Amino acid sequence: MAVSPFTRRSVMTILFDYLALSLLSTAASAGSMFSDTGISSRSDLFGEILRDEAVARLNELGKVSDADGYLERTFMSPASVRVGNLIRGWMEDAGLRTWVDQMGNVHGRVEGMNANAAALLIGSHLDTVVDAGIFDGSLGIISALSALKVLKTNGTLGKLRRPIEVIAFCDEEGVRFQSTFLGSAAVAGILPATALQISDKSGVTVQDVLKENSIEISEETLLQLKYDPGSVWGYVEVHIEQGPVLERLGFPLGVVRGIAGQTRLKVTVRGSQGHAGTVPMSMRQDPMAAAAELIVLLERLCKHPKDFLSFDGHCNDISVESLSNSLVCTVGEISTWPSASNVIPGQVTFTVDLRAMDDMGRESVIYELSNQMYQICERRSVSCVVDRKHDANAVICDSELRSQLKAAAYSALKKMAGEIQDEIPALMSGAGHDAMPMSHLTKVGMLFVRCRGGISHSPAEHVLDDDVWAAGLAILAFLETHM
Ligand code: GLV
Ligand code: MN
Ligand code: MN
Repeated sequence: MAVSPFTRRSVMTILFDYLALSLLSTAASAGSMFSDTGISSRSDLFGEILRDEAVARLNELGKVSDADGYLERTFMSPASVRVGNLIRGWMEDAGLRTWVDQMGNVHGRVEGMNANAAALLIGSHLDTVVDAGIFDGSLGIISALSALKVLKTNGTLGKLRRPIEVIAFCDEEGVRFQSTFLGSAAVAGILPATALQISDKSGVTVQDVLKENSIEISEETLLQLKYDPGSVWGYVEVHIEQGPVLERLGFPLGVVRGIAGQTRLKVTVRGSQGHAGTVPMSMRQDPMAAAAELIVLLERLCKHPKDFLSFDGHCNDISVESLSNSLVCTVGEISTWPSASNVIPGQVTFTVDLRAMDDMGRESVIYELSNQMYQICERRSVSCVVDRKHDANAVICDSELRSQLKAAAYSALKKMAGEIQDEIPALMSGAGHDAMPMSHLTKVGMLFVRCRGGISHSPAEHVLDDDVWAAGLAILAFLETHM
């Protein structure tokens, strides 16, 4: 008899809840680890490279923006290209051979002792959301480069058993084209050729933007970007947690167990454009009021999936309960036409971002949502189209990589704090990461770094200098296991 994925999820949830509870109970003893300031001068901790220089570089990247007054870097924008050049220089400074591929990803590689061995890839993204913080994406690139620079400084870069390649991916956030992971999906070989023709708000396609930057890409060359799975050993990503759990637990680092699946929709509601003063309320076909009802429906459905989902063969009480634990839905962008205070809009478009650890549960929610949306639109005599812009299934991180990263994090924190009595926390990620598409190519593992107040996708995003240091030291310890 087939096991329902809902049942599987419920076991995972129980395990996760158990883990979170046991960690919470030990959190108090973890406390603040780095109260001893004597560590700053210890040469075996490479504070100058892993903390001071890494933090300076993060701040430098954080100043490179396409917007005045806030941080924004989208796919192949002038600021993204400038940041790519900076990163390329820092890759060379760490002893890596560099190149930019035909999607605009920046690569730096060292062959180590055996250029034919399967390579360890380490990466994250150089693009940002609008009004971003400086750590999302950049921290993963900078911590890998700092750790490699320490190996170069020590003269041990050539002792690596396998090639190590750092990749700064060009697009994880999907701000410009709504389709996320353009860079990592190309490397993983799962980016459809049609992605080259997706256009941004001004009608410029992915292919056009690359051409503007002197990069010629065709369907054929896109296929060639895919790495041969046999040439890759695994993929590792360091990322800020973007949530509050590590801070609550008093730990600078945590290991990721898995990443929630996600879907992005674009909903277009069309009605009858008209004069705000002359059309009686009973005679309107107002897409704005309809969109408001659709958005509130989404919120109700995601807050209380139990009240909406049918209890068929796939879906039972426990499975819906488990779905409720991870399901989150957001409308983050809305636009209206013609957008004037004295005009009943003719069209309203909004995005939906929907995430859950359970892929089948996510599908059920989308099915139910679309059904009910069409019913509401019909009742209101407006038309409504739901476009699926992006899908990524949930990912479970590789258990071998998880234990290696856990040991590396433990060793880094022990070096910094002297003694640690507690286990490195293991967390689920609600945020999407380049590790998701990369999991189609190879095994993946992730390390999370504590951030202040759990805040991310905001200029208030903050990581302590010592936690940047801890992340670099952990990646260094991890790399040393490949010698
Ligand atoms: C990426 O930051 C995401 O939207 O999860
Ligand atoms: Mn992000
Ligand atoms: Mn990110």
